[in-house]
Amino acid sequence: KNTVKIGLLGCGTVGGGVIIVLNENKEDIARKAGCAVEVKTVLVRDKSKLKPEIEKYNIGYTDNLDDILNDPEIDIVVELIGRVHPAKEYIEAALQHGKHVVTANKDVLAEYGKSLFALAAEKQLDFQFEGAVGGGIPIIRPLRSCLAGNKISRVMGIVNGTTNYMLTRMTEAGLSYENALKEAQAKGYAESDPTADVEGIDAARKITVLASLAFNTALTLKDVHIEGIDNVEACDISYARELGYVVKLLGVAKNDPENGITANVYPVMLPKNHPLASVNDVYNAIYVNGDAVGDAMFMGRGAGRLPTASAVCGDIIDTVRNICHNACGRVSGNLFVEKKMCPPEK
Ligand code: NDP
Ligand code: HSE
Repeated sequence: KNTVKIGLLGCGTVGGGVIIVLNENKEDIARKAGCAVEVKTVLVRDKSKLKPEIEKYNIGYTDNLDDILNDPEIDIVVELIGRVHPAKEYIEAALQHGKHVVTANKDVLAEYGKSLFALAAEKQLDFQFEGAVGGGIPIIRPLRSCLAGNKISRVMGIVNGTTNYMLTRMTEAGLSYENALKEAQAKGYAESDPTADVEGIDAARKITVLASLAFNTALTLKDVHIEGIDNVEACDISYARELGYVVKLLGVAKNDPENGITANVYPVMLPKNHPLASVNDVYNAIYVNGDAVGDAMFMGRGAGRLPTASAVCGDIIDTVRNICHNACGRVSGNLFVEKKMCPPEK
């Protein structure tokens, strides 16, 4: 192939970022991918909402998914509309039409990951999702590949950029909870319904995905105990500060012989000298403990247009390489496969 063409579903914060990165880094990406990569058609609900910085690129738009599904020139569907429905049905339809899928949608993965991976594997198609956890931080591929030789006992860290940004601004600039949330929304960090961020549900979805990969199981949101920051007030933060602590929202998943697999999301008070205490702003940091590697830490911008587009574009390039080398479908097998009991059966 000279050019691999993409159908993009959704042109909001991240979708717009993908268009920018693929166009601005076009030559470099073509060299790395082995052929040109082009967004051919974008699914939008309302074209008048497009931002001028996106409209300037010469791309086709449609409000009919069939235009993408039935286009034989399109090999990859990139789903960035968010939420569970109709995103899950669109991903399924794309796979049924023989399209490889890239998504950053942890809402869908946390609920339907198992069946979607099975469908992609059956169809021998790529199904990639690096942007779903940690924004621009490489964490999915390390868990899936680089660290696969380990027995992993723990994955934990700061996995929501909105709440970490809010807590940082409430701590350092004395912002109220409401104003900190408004700022995070304006910066494109929050979900379209920010309740998922502040109530810890977004972090729980991410821990579900990380734990499923790390422990080779198939957790869903129901397996996670969740507390968000919606009850954290500015005075809690300043009292903690006076005592030498900072408040952080953590996701913690463990696999130990006694308790089996457990997954939790909760706000904690960390001593100021704890390594996670200085992870601020929109940054995320994820620790993995494996029996061979010991501790490994992954850190970077956990949300936002370009950092997330960076991860999505990496998945696109990987898929393009697989298409060019007839190697598709291998990344979809053996993920989210078996359900372990939690706690284990005695
Ligand atoms: P946005 O809300 O900014 O963008 C979503 C876009 O999809 C909107 O333009 C929306 O249009 C459009 N859309 C929604 N439903 C449909 C539909 N049925 N048909 C066509 N278009 C539709 O979300 P984000 O870009 O922030 O997030 C996209 C995905 O990426 C989500 O899964 C999110 O969880 C994930 N993600 C986001 C990150 C971030 O930092 N923002 C980081 C990592 C992952 P309309 O305006 O008309 O509603
Ligand atoms: N709303 C999410 C966050 C986006 O703030 O972390 C990145 O997944």
